[in-house]
Amino acid sequence: MDERIPEHVAIIMDGNGRWAKKRLLPRSAGHRAGMNRMVALSEHIFDRGAKWCTLYALSTENFNRPEEELEGLYSLFREYFRKNTVALKKKGIVLRVVGNLGLLPEDVREIIRKGEEETQGGLRGTLVLAIGYGSRQEIVAAVNRAVREGKEVNEESFSALLSTEGMPDPDLLIRTGKEQRLSNFLLWQSAYTELYFTEKLFPDFSDKDFDKALEEYALRERRFGKVGK
Ligand code: IPE
Ligand code: IPE
Ligand code: MG
Repeated sequence: MDERIPEHVAIIMDGNGRWAKKRLLPRSAGHRAGMNRMVALSEHIFDRGAKWCTLYALSTENFNRPEEELEGLYSLFREYFRKNTVALKKKGIVLRVVGNLGLLPEDVREIIRKGEEETQGGLRGTLVLAIGYGSRQEIVAAVNRAVREGKEVNEESFSALLSTEGMPDPDLLIRTGKEQRLSNFLLWQSAYTELYFTEKLFPDFSDKDFDKALEEYALRERRFGKVGK
């Protein structure tokens, strides 16, 4: 594997609301534009050679948004899985969802479960959607599980208790939409991840913009605490 290509790319897809506001459109239009961008961009990311792509679509804290906005997002999730599962399967891409699915409407949970099931066994890569995901909640749940089972953990066995079990840590984490924070995304997993922030709002974040992030990634020296070259 080419070291300059991240094996695992994670993206905080932020800025949909502001994209819509700039155009005097409702926030829902921004989420739709974001979803369309997500479909094309995830394909591009696998074309560039990544094996894992994790996209932050809804945080636990996002459940504090107005019901109307959440309903709109649920509809987009339904549509996404309905329209894309077969295509992903054909491309050999496995769909996996991390997050507290219990917070979602029953039918959305069911559609997600089916999408995961139908794409199992794909060999090209895994597209992970973080939906109802919160890193602190994930860590607390893992700690409680270890305590319940009376287990002492080490880094490896603890990682296996997280919803990202079996996934490599992200090599490159991109956040669109100007903010420079993690907003409760992959806190444990991104201990040594290269961070890349861009002002581009997610619906405007093009394949070319992604390639620019890749170019910068290729120049980074990942030392993991060791002495540099
Ligand atoms: C990101 O876009 C998508 C979700 C959090 C669901 P936002 O909705 O946060 O967009 P801004 O940050 O308000 O522009
Ligand atoms: C982070 O974006 C969550 C997702 C992109 C799904 P937010 O818009 O929720 O983050 P904050 O509130 O600006 O930190
Ligand atoms: Mg935001």
